[in-house]
Amino acid sequence: MNKRIIMDVDTGIDDAIAIMLAVKSGRFNIEGITTVSGNVSLQQATDNTCKIAEFLGANDIPIIRGANQPYLRQPRFEHHVHGSDGIGGALADMRPTKRPYDGFAPDFIIDTVKRHPGEVTLIMTAPLTNLALALRKCPELIEQVDEVIFMGGVVTSFGNVSPMAEYNIFADPEAARIVFQAGFPKLTMVGLDVTRRALLRDEHIASLTNEAIRNYVRESTEIYVNRYEERNGIRACAMHDPLAVAVALDRTIVGTASHFVDVETKSELCDGQTVCDFQNRLQRVANMDVCLDLDEQAFMRLFIDTLNRP
Ligand code: RIB
Ligand code: CA
Repeated sequence: MNKRIIMDVDTGIDDAIAIMLAVKSGRFNIEGITTVSGNVSLQQATDNTCKIAEFLGANDIPIIRGANQPYLRQPRFEHHVHGSDGIGGALADMRPTKRPYDGFAPDFIIDTVKRHPGEVTLIMTAPLTNLALALRKCPELIEQVDEVIFMGGVVTSFGNVSPMAEYNIFADPEAARIVFQAGFPKLTMVGLDVTRRALLRDEHIASLTNEAIRNYVRESTEIYVNRYEERNGIRACAMHDPLAVAVALDRTIVGTASHFVDVETKSELCDGQTVCDFQNRLQRVANMDVCLDLDEQAFMRLFIDTLNRP
């Protein structure tokens, strides 16, 4: 049976491609896609998600709006990374007819998980605000969710929005802390430690056989690729959010270790840093599986083969 999932997104360039991967895989019952303020505003993230769903012909997937700002802090949008529209200017002429459902994402998460106890995987590719709000309302969610896989954090390298912090955690560290400390039995961190190695290059895009998808991916990632080239001297872009979906499809592509991880929320320099207790110095029980290794070829093969499915 297909795995039941909810995706929580701040559709952005890589969120959109992650949605594509999930839909094209044909291996998920996508119960819904919840949206949240992050890379762009809640409205923009919701509009972009509707656009992508319609572009994919996935008009039956419910899209439900969530939090329009972080748990405590003010929004911090990333238009310089994702473009003024959030998806790199792709599908600019498209006027989607698909609209979000009524209701609030945290309530949708609670209701869906309660309807399918033990069966739902939450794939989080945005700040964790919606899940934190759901936990505040329904702490027993931790016993009824199958697994939570989140793209966020970094534990063996530097950040991508501050010296120590990754964007999804930095944007809402209080929400991340609520999620990390909730007690989920199966919580998997897909951080920059592995997503920076999931590099999409021009030759990968050229091998996409569906012309509409190939053109979308090329157009939407252009600004991502240009920035990456400016910074690193090679044309590529990290598939942060698609890797979280790929882990849900095939966990063997990553190597993980169980550790206690917490989030800094009271530091001038290191707010949003995900601190991994590798040597168990704090004597705390491990609260998540941390992805520390990636089979890059296996990921890219899965990525291309999945997007090339009919
Ligand atoms: O750090 C990468 C993450 O931040 C991705 O989810 C990207 O979409 C942005 O939200
Ligand atoms: Ca995202």
